[in-house]
Amino acid sequence: MFFSHPKDFTPVCTTELGEAAKRSGDFKKRGVKVLALSVDSSESHGKWKSDIEETQSCTVDYPIVGDSDKKVANLYGMIHPKALDSMTVRTVFVIDPNKKIRLTMTYPASTGRNFDEILRVIDALQLADKYKVATPVNWKDGQDVIIPPAIQDPEVLKRDYPKGFKVIKPYLRTTPQPNK
Ligand code: BEZ
Repeated sequence: MFFSHPKDFTPVCTTELGEAAKRSGDFKKRGVKVLALSVDSSESHGKWKSDIEETQSCTVDYPIVGDSDKKVANLYGMIHPKALDSMTVRTVFVIDPNKKIRLTMTYPASTGRNFDEILRVIDALQLADKYKVATPVNWKDGQDVIIPPAIQDPEVLKRDYPKGFKVIKPYLRTTPQPNK
């Protein structure tokens, strides 16, 4: 999970980087590494880290990239063409083990991100990668999932969805989460 914040020593960012640290166990449990970035220097990150730990009661155990020359920020499109070019916007990238970007999100400067949502998408991606399923609106770990419409072969349906499935419409079929 690679995310950028606009600036060190700012309030919303302080809460977000604190939350990322507090959810360290949730990321580790899913085999996910956390990496933060802004265009502030590594020296600045080091000083700010003490404030994050003090105010958010956490230990920041993940690296924060000091991207002063904006090299990485530009590669990832983290600097919005219509916003200040001296700051990265609040972006989130979920990158899979094959180094493929699977999720991008961009938030407004005034809105802190929702880490439950980031973890929820990671759960959904890991489930979809392991089993042939998709996840419905507001899905949470443990809830029923969707069988992709392309899967129609009765033998395959029987083999891959042993818990059975409900047909709501021919294109909308649900099955209990396979790994629960
Ligand atoms: C903040 O983290 O509070 C913030 C940072 C940059 C612009 C606006 C808000």
